[in-house]
Parts: sequence; C-alpha cells; structure tokens
Amino acid sequence: MRIDGHTEVYGLIGKPVGHTVSPALHDAFARVCGRSLVYVPFQVDGDLGAAVKGAYELNIRGLNVTVPYKSRVIPFLSDIDEEAHLLGAVNTLVRIPGGYKGYNTDLAGLKKAVHADGIKLSGRPVMIIGAGGAARAASFAAAKESPSVLIIVNRTPAKARLLAEEVRKAFPGLKTAEGSLEDAGGLISGSGGHAAVFQCTSAGLYPETGECPVSDPEVFRGTEYGFDLIYNPEETLFMKRVRQSGGMARNGLAMLLYQGAASFELWTGEKIGDEALEEAMRTLSRAVQA
Ligand code: ATR
Repeated sequence: MRIDGHTEVYGLIGKPVGHTVSPALHDAFARVCGRSLVYVPFQVDGDLGAAVKGAYELNIRGLNVTVPYKSRVIPFLSDIDEEAHLLGAVNTLVRIPGGYKGYNTDLAGLKKAVHADGIKLSGRPVMIIGAGGAARAASFAAAKESPSVLIIVNRTPAKARLLAEEVRKAFPGLKTAEGSLEDAGGLISGSGGHAAVFQCTSAGLYPETGECPVSDPEVFRGTEYGFDLIYNPEETLFMKRVRQSGGMARNGLAMLLYQGAASFELWTGEKIGDEALEEAMRTLSRAVQA
C-alpha cells in the first residue's frame, strides 16, 4: 500500500501496545477493501485526555483502546454507545463532529465467535472464570444471551461477587452464582452441566503455558464448550483439558478477528465479507505465531 496525501490514519491507544497484532489485522481488511489506510499503535504514558484531543485534532479517523484505558477513556468522549455505557468500557472510538463516540466491539466479537461455532448460550449454564476487564466483557456478552444461570468464579471471590452484582443490576431477573476457583466444579455440576465456559484470566498465557486456573476434573466433565480468551499459545492447558474430556474448545483468535472487523466496519462503513474474514484470520494466525 502506498501512503499518500489521502491516507487515513487509525490506531490503538494503550500501555503497553508492543504486543498487539491489530495492525496486521486492519492492514488485511484495508487490502481487501482497497483502502489507503494505516493503523498505528500509540503508547500513551501520561495525559490520556490530551492524547484523545490530539488524535482528534490530527484528524485520526478512529482508534482502538486497550488496557489500561478501556474505562478511563470514557470521560474524554463526546458520546457513548448504550451497550458500552452499560458495560462501562469501550474499545473503539469513532470520529464524530467535535470528538469521538465510544463503542465496545468486544461484546459483538465474542458473540460472533461463539455463534460461528454453532453454539447457543441461551437456556444453558454459562461459567465465567475471572473477574477482571475481560471477564466483565464476557459476562455482559453472555448475560445478553439469557443463559439458564451465569456463574462467575475468580481467584479473589469478592471480585466475582461484585461483578455478579453488577451484571444482575444490568440484567434484572438473570440467575447468577459466584464463588472461588475451587467452587467451580460444584457450581457447574449443580447447574446441570453441558456448560459453556469462558476462561478470562491471564493464567496460561505465553510464556506461562503450564498454568490453568481450574484443575477440578468436575469442571471439565461439565463443560461442553470451552472458550479461552487467550490466543497465544494456540492451545492453552485449559483448552487441552476441555478437549480431553470430550468438549469443544476454542481460543480467543476468532473473538479478536470479529471485534476488529466490527471496529473496521464502524470506522469505514465497509462490510467485511466472509472472504475478507478468512484472509484476515490467516494473517492473524501468522502474526501470532511470529
Ligand atoms: P484483564 O483486563 O485481562 O481481564 P485484569 O483486569 O487484570 O486483566 O484481570 C485479570 C484476571 O485474571 C483476574 O480475574 C485475576 O484474578 P484476581 O482477581 O484474583 O487477581 C485473574 N488471574 C490472573 N492471574 C491468575 C492466576 N495465575 N490464576 C488465576 N487467576 C488469575
């Protein structure tokens, strides 16, 4: 792609940003759509508000936001999408007159990845492992699908309790349960099993690939579908255990793909078709392996 006077600039703000594979992803989308655009990682060390204002003044068309700014950026936005507001976190800024509007495409990304596997969350138990930012997004995405019960377990159970309370407030009538990682087996078998389980902790992430947040075989016996939000390594220990117990397991790469596609569509108005998605997925896999 040639950079010229019309090249559009997009980017990512976060800290750190060195590990990101999003430039390769958006580069692939741009290639397929035939658009001249660049996607630049920007590490923001200090004044987040000044960074957002500066991006706007520099005519940056859109931004992704990653840790630790997904919630902290909200006060600097001109507008926010209702779902992102409910969640209290944004990952996509879309340029509007006078500033940026915040969206969260992580929710749609997760939903699409699960649906692409032919899995429905409605009416079945869903377990979330973790209670940080990623678990929060997964909890809200799952809650929207009306599971029979939403179970949240975490190393620090108090955080699981707080997250469950917040989800119940946003989705009145939703049945929830929460506990420690050690409670996971009992909670899953008590819910009737055949659960969809989302692994949302950093345990098992490269290079600590020998870690898995849960070890009770009861958890894996009750898991029909295990989704690890980690995508490096390609198969985490959690996924391996799900597969060994006869369940279907996925890593987080498809979620990354679909959230990126949703951001790209919001920014450009382009429609990312199946062929573009496949091409971008190949690019992503190569980028992660590298
Ligand atoms: P993210 O934005 O990726 O969700 P985070 O908000 O820092 O990151 O949350 C990290 C999550 O991983 C938390 O649920 C954390 O558990 P605690 O709340 O007890 O800290 C969980 N976590 C991190 N390392 C873990 C480990 N080795 N075993 C189990 N859980 C772990």
